[in-house]
Formats: sequence, structure tokens, C-alpha cells
Amino acid sequence: MFFFLKVGFMEIKKLLNNWYRDNSRDLPWRSNKNPYPIWLSEIILQQTQVVQGLPYYKKFIENFPTVYDLASANEDKVLKLWQGLGYYSRARNLHFAAKQVVAEYSGHFPKTYKELLKLKGVGDYTASAIASIAYDETVPTIDGNVLRVISRLFDIDIPVDSNNGKKIIKGLMIEIMDVDNPGNFNQAVMELGALVCKPKKTDCDNCPLKEKCLSYERQNFLERPVKTKKIKVKDLYVDYLFLSNSQGVIMQQRNVKTIWKKLFEFPNVTSEVELVKVNHLEELRSNYSKNSSELFFITEMKHKLTHRNLYIRFFKSKIPESYSRITSWDELKRKAVPKPIEVFLRKFREV
Ligand code: ADE
Repeated sequence: MFFFLKVGFMEIKKLLNNWYRDNSRDLPWRSNKNPYPIWLSEIILQQTQVVQGLPYYKKFIENFPTVYDLASANEDKVLKLWQGLGYYSRARNLHFAAKQVVAEYSGHFPKTYKELLKLKGVGDYTASAIASIAYDETVPTIDGNVLRVISRLFDIDIPVDSNNGKKIIKGLMIEIMDVDNPGNFNQAVMELGALVCKPKKTDCDNCPLKEKCLSYERQNFLERPVKTKKIKVKDLYVDYLFLSNSQGVIMQQRNVKTIWKKLFEFPNVTSEVELVKVNHLEELRSNYSKNSSELFFITEMKHKLTHRNLYIRFFKSKIPESYSRITSWDELKRKAVPKPIEVFLRKFREV
């Protein structure tokens, strides 16, 4: 029994490798084994898919061609380039890790999975990705695509968001991995998950593993992977106050512990219960400038985050031209702002 399974594993490896050779996307960080672009791309791709992540990767590499450039960059610039990807602590960790590589490793990335884990923001996934792709270490990368592909291939009905489920998937990846080219193998599984073995629009007819896939045989692939945990989503109500004159706008920097920490935004009132009246805004407006014009409502929008539904209203009031504690329109272009503020400014700055 074990022998036949092993033969099966060999075939899986070969089928995957051949498929990857013929179908992998030509991505800039795949052109060589330099760990810096590999690390950068893997951190960005934890936030978004390849198509959306590619322009961000290009911007980062253009602005910071080496780890030295990133390490010596101004944090505001790093955050500005990250703008739109969300989860800004990843950008701050990226910056911090670049400084670590320069200060503690003389500009050379650590060369093993274990040592890579010491870099800020580098966890099991990223360390495995860099170690296998740049240094040929036989360590499996376990991301959402891998969890889906492997749980379908072996029809795993244990929740993949449990420790046990993850351990099983990792064990199976180690069993089927190509020890001669672990980096390509990891990327092949991820690529198959991204292009063929998709969550809902599965393309089984074009899958190299169709004949091997237990979930395909049992036609239950849409029920794999099994997950238990549901993310608790909380509603939050935010009223933003857009206080501007011809020179610029009043902005403040967030410093509380949220995903938007250190980003710039308008003065605001945030509440867990729905905000109906506007008295709180009148008070806020007069805290900034008693001589500002009457308050009026401009627009509202809903913004979804992983753990939050934000219901945002935007109000506007003109502040006197003499008001000096503002961020100039020119300066504003260089500040990283949360997505809803970016959308608002694009549409309503001139209102
Ligand atoms: N998703 C994240 N990193 C990837 C990689 N290196 N190859 C394919 N998909 C990925």
C-alpha cells in the first residue's frame, strides 16, 4: 500500500513540474534567485493577488532597487507606496526587516528557513518561500492556495484552519515535494491554486492532477477546504470632517493601535453605535476653528475590512484662509491615507 502511494506521489510531482514549466506566469521576481525581490513579492502577495500586487511590486523595486535603498528610505514614503494594500503593519515590518538585513546581516539575507524567521514580519510562510525559492531548502509553503489544492487532492475533511488540519497539509506537502527543486514545486502548487484549482471557478478539465484528485473523483471539491472559524465582523460608524481652504486641508495622523496606525486622515468621530445627529461634528469643527463655515454633508460610503464594516459619512466646512495648521495640497500627495480618504479626495477635493 505504502509503495503504491509513493509511486503516486512521484507522479504527482512530475505532473506538477511539467505543468508549471508550461504554464507558469512570467513574473519579474522569478527571473533569478535573488532573495530581496523574492521577499518583497511574497510580502506584497500576502495582501493581494498577483495581478493586483504586480504594480506595487514594480513601484517598490523602482524606488528601492536594493535592500539598502529600502532600509534607508523615509517611513512615510514606504507607507505611501503601500497605500491601497491595507494592513499597514506589513509595510512597517517590511521597512524594519530591511534595516535588520543591513544592520545585522551586512546587507545579505539570512540563508536558512530558521534564520529567516528572525526578520520582522517573516513568518512560517514567507521564510519557507524565500528559503525554498532562493536557497533550494526543502520546506513547504502553506498559503491559502496550497491549503485548497492539497485538501482537494487528498480529500481532507479536517478543517484547514485548525492546527491539526494545517499539520496534515504540511505533512502531505513534505511527502510529495520535489527535493531537487523545492522552490519550483512550492510555486507550482500555489500557481495551480491561483490559475486552475480556484475556490469556486474550478477548471478541473485543465488540471494536470485531475486523474489523481480524490475530491474530483468524489465530486466534492467545492466543499474543500473545510473551514471552521468564522471571522467576527463588527460595525463601526465614522464621521469625517473635511476642513479645507485654498491652501490645504486639516489632517491628523493616527497613532492608536489599528490597521491605519500612522496614516493620515481627517478629524473624525468614531462610534460603535450609529451616528445620526451632527452635534458631535459641530463641536469638533469649533475645536479646530470657530470661524469655519457652516457644516454640510457631502457623501457616505461603506468600506469593508476583514474584521470591520465601516459606515463612513463625510462632512465639509471651509476654514479661514489665515488658518495655518494645515497640510498643503502638495504635501498631501506624499502622505499615505486610508482607502476611503483616497477615494473621497479623488472625487470631492474640489467641492
Ligand atoms: N502566491 C504568493 N507567492 C507566490 C509564488 N511565488 N508563486 C505563485 N503564487 C504565489
